[in-house]
Amino acid sequence: MKSIADLGDLRGVRVVIRCDFNVPLKREGGPSGQGSQGVITDDGRIRAALPTLRQLLTGGARVTVLAHLGRPGGEVNPKYSLAPVAIRLSELLGQPVPLAADVIGPSAQALSASLQDGEICMAENVRYESAEESKDEAQRVELAKGYALLGDVFVSDGFGVVHRKQASVYDIAKLLPHAAGSLVKAETEVLSRLTADPERPFVVVLGGAKVADKLAVIDNLLRLADTLVIGGGMAFTFLAAQGYGIGKSILDEANIVTCQGYLETATKLGKRIVLPVDTRVAAGIDFGNMSVTGEITVVPVAEIPADQGGFDIGPATEELFADIVRGGRTVFWNGPMGVFEVAEFAAGTKAIAQALSQVDGLSVVGGGDSAAAVRDFGYADTDFGHISTGGGASLEYLEGKTLPGIAVLED
Ligand code: 3PG
Repeated sequence: MKSIADLGDLRGVRVVIRCDFNVPLKREGGPSGQGSQGVITDDGRIRAALPTLRQLLTGGARVTVLAHLGRPGGEVNPKYSLAPVAIRLSELLGQPVPLAADVIGPSAQALSASLQDGEICMAENVRYESAEESKDEAQRVELAKGYALLGDVFVSDGFGVVHRKQASVYDIAKLLPHAAGSLVKAETEVLSRLTADPERPFVVVLGGAKVADKLAVIDNLLRLADTLVIGGGMAFTFLAAQGYGIGKSILDEANIVTCQGYLETATKLGKRIVLPVDTRVAAGIDFGNMSVTGEITVVPVAEIPADQGGFDIGPATEELFADIVRGGRTVFWNGPMGVFEVAEFAAGTKAIAQALSQVDGLSVVGGGDSAAAVRDFGYADTDFGHISTGGGASLEYLEGKTLPGIAVLED
């Protein structure tokens, strides 16, 4: 992959850059657009793009940013406007970041053409264009030709989206001279340290609700890691595979047999899959106001009542998992240990975050919810070796998959 330095002198050069500014937003009803567009609750992805953007701007480039927000599905919808992102980016850069009213239309073209050296603007949400995510390559290429009018060179720096074969990630790189930004370089460098000869013990902590999302990565990690720690909602399918009654806890019935297979493979390979030994149970959660229904009790996993569900790992599991994490020399974590958005079920996720911050070696937080959670708990990014901006992208990298947005830069 070429880097920005390989592009030569950038003074006066029009650069179109893909960033991943898909940030979490809190939407509160409000009288103005700000209310319907929401307030950014974690600006980590915007901050992560700053080194590359500053490098381009101080080098005198004229920068047009392409990015997506949410999944508007090819339709213009103010709810998914990049307006809050443009405002935050402008605050962080300390210079104006005007936002075009369209993606490749007259507004974006005029704004991009009006830039002076060291100035920056943004096009609207690329996913307002249905061709952006199309499976039809010809449609995507047509749209990418529109993006290519916004710059003379393309810089790819949206690591969180490099696993998507989309027009602003993949097809545009075939049309313009291109380079990887420093975020894409840094992310791939760290993740390659996990897959190629990691310092051992290599511990991976996986959580989150859905076991189905993590099957492929478990498959590959069984070969790469020494210990796989599994918590969160997905642990209950593994516990069911071991024959435990899990009450009303979340279960992926279709994957019980697959989980049994993983437990057997781990034994054969001499690897450890470590599961919760206790859990915090309750009758349920009212997701409307994020409150717990009934009383919360801690029970061993062998004693989950039939009418209760587990919503967080228990204190004994916290200790067990935290010890394993602290003992790792390379640790990767993706996915919360419980429904951490409800204060009563945040302890397990907090325990993992704390243990990870104490690792003597390389600690990596694998994007998405986990990154937002650690910042919400008050940790600084520097408390960890690396916080990846890509949840899905980092998992697909660890699955050993080819990431289209990376492969196209290597061609
Ligand atoms: C993410 O949030 O993981 C990336 O921005 C990709 O978004 P997507 O899953 O909607 O493609």
